[in-house]
Amino acid sequence: MTQLIVYSAINPADILLDTQDFDTIAREVAAAGARIERWTAAQPLTPEATSEEILAAYRPEIDRLRTERGYAAADVIHLRPGNPNWPQLRQKFLSEHIHDEDEVRFFVAGSGAFYLHIGDKVYQVVGTDGDLLSVPKGTKHWFDGGPRANFTVIRLFTEETGWVAHFTGDAISGTVPTYEAA
Ligand SMILES: [Fe+2]
Repeated sequence: MTQLIVYSAINPADILLDTQDFDTIAREVAAAGARIERWTAAQPLTPEATSEEILAAYRPEIDRLRTERGYAAADVIHLRPGNPNWPQLRQKFLSEHIHDEDEVRFFVAGSGAFYLHIGDKVYQVVGTDGDLLSVPKGTKHWFDGGPRANFTVIRLFTEETGWVAHFTGDAISGTVPTYEAA
């Protein structure tokens, strides 16, 4: 279920907003300078769909966003429960960081939570099947796929080398609840 929880960055026990209403989420996320959209597949996809079939099903939306934002490439990442690399990757993604380009993820299936640290607030945006989330370049953020990460996402890039994490060293991510639903 798509969800937005807004925490006070000063006192994360203070929850300022908690909603699953998509229009409210889209409005709040846009006001924070980020983006969430809901995409529909051009043709039905089975759980066994290949990366090529997935990209083809969302080609109109991908091309629209590429034209609008200048993204050069798109690929597909599958992460399944039990992946031996996940515990280490999870810890890395849980540290607050920024990128020199937008971090754009479309959830084909499964779910994950982006945490955007903007001003004196932290926006926890849980994306699920059909959700496009974009974290603008330079935005302090972290990501959690949960203890048993299970998602298929499309990534859009300006250039693959741009998606390098610059860690802020801020311990704030340790003060906000992790994403446990997956
Ligand atoms: Fe990131």
